[in-house]
Amino acid sequence: MPQIFPPNANAFARWALLGGGAFVVVLIIALPIYARTINNAVGVPVAQPVAFQHNLHVAQLGIDCRYCHTTVEVAAAATVPDTQTCMSCHSQIRVGTPELAVVAASWELDTPIPWNKVHNLPDYAYFNHSAHVNSGVGCSTCHGQIDQMAGIWKNESLTMGWCMDCHREPERFLRPRSEVFNMAYVPPTDQRTLGLELVAAYHVSHEKLYQCSVCHR
Ligand code: HEC
Ligand code: HEC
Ligand code: HEC
Ligand code: HEC
Ligand code: HEC
Repeated sequence: MPQIFPPNANAFARWALLGGGAFVVVLIIALPIYARTINNAVGVPVAQPVAFQHNLHVAQLGIDCRYCHTTVEVAAAATVPDTQTCMSCHSQIRVGTPELAVVAASWELDTPIPWNKVHNLPDYAYFNHSAHVNSGVGCSTCHGQIDQMAGIWKNESLTMGWCMDCHREPERFLRPRSEVFNMAYVPPTDQRTLGLELVAAYHVSHEKLYQCSVCHR
């Protein structure tokens, strides 16, 4: 019988099997991680129809977050401003520049600017801005230093694990309510003492923060 396989075929087959096995293992580990990074593109600015710059409008011009995100203290959603909010200035400032063409068209045609969402939890997870803001959780704790960003990106993964990391021990993060909109806030060295004081002062309920039904209702 002539040999079909060369003498080193066995070794080759072994290595091929091993290699194939390792490849499958790597694939099984890597795919979910890859899927997460696609969904949670932390740190990657999201492209927008208008190159609106937070750093220019907030840090340079000094416009308050609440001028545009009007409901952040009173409702679940912070909301993105309508075109009229932009036109309160841009009906006079920089009229006719190409950078503002989409804003002008939106105003004339009375159609909203199609902003792309940067933060978007799945429908089965409930979030509420007012509850956090009024309990002394600063915008920058979750969104980072928005006043320094030109384009906006997600600063945190927004996974359940991330939410729970704070819900287990909110005293690690709370600040006085007066500092919620301070983008450059630095916690004191003794954050724990301050945090526990604020948990009591703002009636933050540790028990409530654990319950599945708080976020999955
Ligand atoms: C002059 C209006 C204006 C002001 C002031 C402003 N924003 Fe915005 N903000 C916008 C617009 C328009 C968008 C949507 C476009 C974008 O994401 O860049 C937005 C988007 C955002 C988003 C992302 C929304 C999403 O899609 O998930 C966050 C977070 C945010 N702003 C936080 C802040 C914070 C914090 C402040 C104050 C430091 C602030 N903004 C001040 C107009 C404003
Ligand atoms: C309180 C006034 C004010 C509001 C409200 C405002 N802007 Fe502006 N914006 C300005 C000023 C002032 C400048 C120009 C700064 C400069 O001359 O460099 C500017 C610049 C811009 C530019 C750059 C224009 C260019 O020619 O380079 C864009 C884009 C822009 N704004 C978009 C928006 C959008 C979108 C909104 C609404 C979400 C908005 N602005 C709301 C005051 C405002
Ligand atoms: C505890 C974390 C946390 C804090 C504090 C927080 N945000 Fe958010 N923000 C989120 C999450 C999570 C979303 C996405 C909500 C969703 O998809 O349902 C979001 C979404 C947004 C949006 C998009 C519109 C919307 O409501 O979905 C804006 C604008 C925004 N936040 C602005 C702010 C501003 C301004 C502050 C401070 C006054 C702030 N946020 C404080 C976590 C936070
Ligand atoms: C940095 C701390 C922190 C982070 C991060 C955080 N939370 Fe909270 N959350 C709090 C505090 C503090 C309260 C207020 C509890 C109270 O009032 O008793 C709260 C309350 C809530 C409530 C109750 C609202 C109500 O109607 O009473 C919900 C829902 C909630 N959080 C969802 C989330 C979700 C979803 C995430 C993640 C996307 C998240 N939180 C991330 C600190 C945090
Ligand atoms: C502080 C808010 C919060 C609480 C409390 C909470 N979850 Fe979640 N959960 C979320 C968010 C936000 C997501 C979606 C983000 C993600 O994919 O991690 C999620 C996702 C999930 C998922 C989808 C699977 C996954 O990992 O993507 C399941 C199942 C789940 N939660 C079950 C629970 C159970 C059971 C409890 C109670 C022990 C609970 N959750 C408590 C916020 C919360």
